[in-house]
Amino acid sequence: MEKITEVIQSVRLDDINDMLILLDQTVLPNQKVFLELKEMKDVWDAIYHLRVRGAPAIGIAAAYGVYLGTKKSEADTYEELYADFLKVKEYLASSRPTAVNLFWALDRMDKRFKQEEGKSVAEVKLALKEEAELIREEDEQVCKSIGEHALTLLKPGMGILTHCNAGTIATARYGTALAPIYLGQEQGYDFKVFADETRPLLQGARLTAWELKQAGVDVTLICDNMASIVMKEGKIQAVLVGCDRVAANGDTANKIGTSGVAILAKHYNIPFYVCAPLSTVDLECQTGEDIHIELRPSEEITSKWYGEPMAPEDVQTYNPAFDVTDHEFITGIVTENGIAYAPFSESLPKMFKK
Ligand code: MRU
Repeated sequence: MEKITEVIQSVRLDDINDMLILLDQTVLPNQKVFLELKEMKDVWDAIYHLRVRGAPAIGIAAAYGVYLGTKKSEADTYEELYADFLKVKEYLASSRPTAVNLFWALDRMDKRFKQEEGKSVAEVKLALKEEAELIREEDEQVCKSIGEHALTLLKPGMGILTHCNAGTIATARYGTALAPIYLGQEQGYDFKVFADETRPLLQGARLTAWELKQAGVDVTLICDNMASIVMKEGKIQAVLVGCDRVAANGDTANKIGTSGVAILAKHYNIPFYVCAPLSTVDLECQTGEDIHIELRPSEEITSKWYGEPMAPEDVQTYNPAFDVTDHEFITGIVTENGIAYAPFSESLPKMFKK
């Protein structure tokens, strides 16, 4: 069987035609469509509409968006180009608020811009392209390392529950929470994975179940409200999730519903691990209270995939896209530099120093 982490690349630059190629994650699993984007406006739109989604993939797409947007500038000098760059950066920063990887990638592009001081406009534009490529390449290595560390926590045959999609298509390759599952699969671990469907946008059903099934992993799809019964029945030995932003004290924002899964895991005495590239750890947020939670349109919960209504017209809705899992429910945070344990306010900063 082909390795899915090798065949599916959800975000990459077509170097010859200078365009961003994105796997449209909104039409999976029914269609596999690759979008060809040349304008930063299209990149903004793809991020907002979740055509590209998952914290690391959003950051990578935004970095390419910076390149595409700045490339169009007609500036003659470094200073003029920087003024245009800042407009592009600000525009892309407004696409989604919660995943810190977006801002992390934009800041890294900014840093690279500043390192190029004194260079010609053409050279700076080329440097931005190079930096976006580097961000993508590094993410692949980071995810692999997360997978290797997380695999040390798991034993062959374990039942693993995951929420949302933190797989290969949410990153440059491998995923974060799914990385140890793919690495374990190659080594014959025979995990039994339970994927929460993840209402309202069904990332678990449409993306995680699809990814794992294609990779030949034993995956069982459940509705979100079935997590308790599978835990109670002894089918789950570990929970692995990704994240969108980890605060300094370990509080973690991830897809809506994650905190409920963590509370259940604690109740059933099941370890709950967060897989977090350091680009998702935001030490400037002291606690989860500081994390901006994205609110999304009502139609996401009142209609079947923006189609047929399934709730009364004009019903009041509340649709937060993420929730924060309190650090006390988290057994460990798996980064590319090792596993952080409580107290996270001490262990997380150390991860950056390795
Ligand atoms: O709204 P989404 O689909 O972008 O939310 C994605 C998640 O919550 C993922 O779990 C998280 O970004 C980690 S992806 C490696």
